[in-house]
Amino acid sequence: MTDTSKNENGCPVHDWATDYDVMDEGYTRNPAPIWAELRQKCPVAHTTRWGGSWMPTRYADIQEMANMVPTLSSRAISVIPPDPVLREELIAELKAYGTESPPITSDPPEHSPYKRLILPFFSPRAVAGYAAMTEEICRGLLDELKDRDTADAAVEYAQQIPPRVIAYILGIDMGRAAEFTQWTQELLELGQTDPELRRAARTKIRTFFFDQIEHRKQNPGHDVISLLLDAEVEGRRLSDHTVAGICNLLLVAGIDTTWSSIGSALYHFATHPEDRKRLVAEPDLLPVAVEEVLRYYSPVTMARKVTAEVCMHGAEMKPGDKLLMTFPAANRDPEVFERPDEFVIDRQQNRHIAFGTGIHRCAGSNLARMELLVGLRLWFERFPDFSLAGEEGVTWAGGQVRGPRNVPVRLSA
Ligand code: HEM
Repeated sequence: MTDTSKNENGCPVHDWATDYDVMDEGYTRNPAPIWAELRQKCPVAHTTRWGGSWMPTRYADIQEMANMVPTLSSRAISVIPPDPVLREELIAELKAYGTESPPITSDPPEHSPYKRLILPFFSPRAVAGYAAMTEEICRGLLDELKDRDTADAAVEYAQQIPPRVIAYILGIDMGRAAEFTQWTQELLELGQTDPELRRAARTKIRTFFFDQIEHRKQNPGHDVISLLLDAEVEGRRLSDHTVAGICNLLLVAGIDTTWSSIGSALYHFATHPEDRKRLVAEPDLLPVAVEEVLRYYSPVTMARKVTAEVCMHGAEMKPGDKLLMTFPAANRDPEVFERPDEFVIDRQQNRHIAFGTGIHRCAGSNLARMELLVGLRLWFERFPDFSLAGEEGVTWAGGQVRGPRNVPVRLSA
């Protein structure tokens, strides 16, 4: 199988079926050929790297596994496991608060009441109400680029939209968007290989929300934090710990992910002039093109903890093992998608699972789609002739959330 270099501990991967590395640079840049080979030869691969894990690559298997709850538990969802100190902290919290945890890290029966609590904030109707504010944010960002020849479309545009939108929804200071992005990046990206940074980011986010909670208790409003403080699950108010946990989830879940998708779209159209011109000529194609961006450049991989023996395609998973929910690999399966490794801008059949599937399916998918649609529509109106200013300047992040972190572009022809 494909040989690459620069891996955990500097050891190259020689066999992706038995020793894959999700942080490998080559894999992060272009994982699709590796998935294609694994799908054929070893549909559930294994590695001992990064705490050890199993990796399915077929759509049908990933869909089945997403529904194997709680055998495949969401109690541990990090692709790169927490370091021992953070693990102890998480175990202590679990003991103290038991079943009260945000939906992304809980299993049935606890999962559904907490999910029900947050879904109304992201319903189609609620999201339609955030569109004008998102437009205003995007126009402001585009105005800042108006006299420029070049820009970093990932850093100066894609990265700036989601933290501002979620800050508005949570009722926290939009002016601190850069900090929110930094915390999220430290938690989900840079902190994956730097335990101290990851722990510090977690502490910063939690401290921030505990302060916000105190403030709302004195000055209740109509924002999401105040509504959560007022809410009840099974007749009981939520603890501050749970409210902070849910706010933490909403802040973090929507930033890296949506930034990655908007950035991937801009990278794609900057490097594929025929698709860019088609979208300029046929703007009504945008919603279909956005679904193809979500499929082709799916950003999110989650993990599950195996709680009972599971055997699939000869892979014998034992309690305590970690399994990766490789939604991006599922979205390239030729059993489900024609020409899966081609970006087909007007793809009609597109049952992708970029937002997951089953009970943990993304709560923010309406919001993410709206941000993509508004962000791209306004970018295309302002810079219809943009192009990549140099592939060597493009960088990618991988692991839990894959996406371009730098996309240098020329803004006009
Ligand atoms: C393109 C952008 C996004 C992608 C690709 C994405 C992807 C995902 C995926 C794959 C899951 C499933 C997790 C699992 O199975 O364990 C998920 C869950 C979740 N997402 Fe998103 N997401 C995006 C944007 C957002 C936004 C904007 C928000 C809201 C602020 C959000 C909030 C959530 C929440 C709360 C969950 C947990 C749902 C549950 O466990 O029941 N996401 N997302």
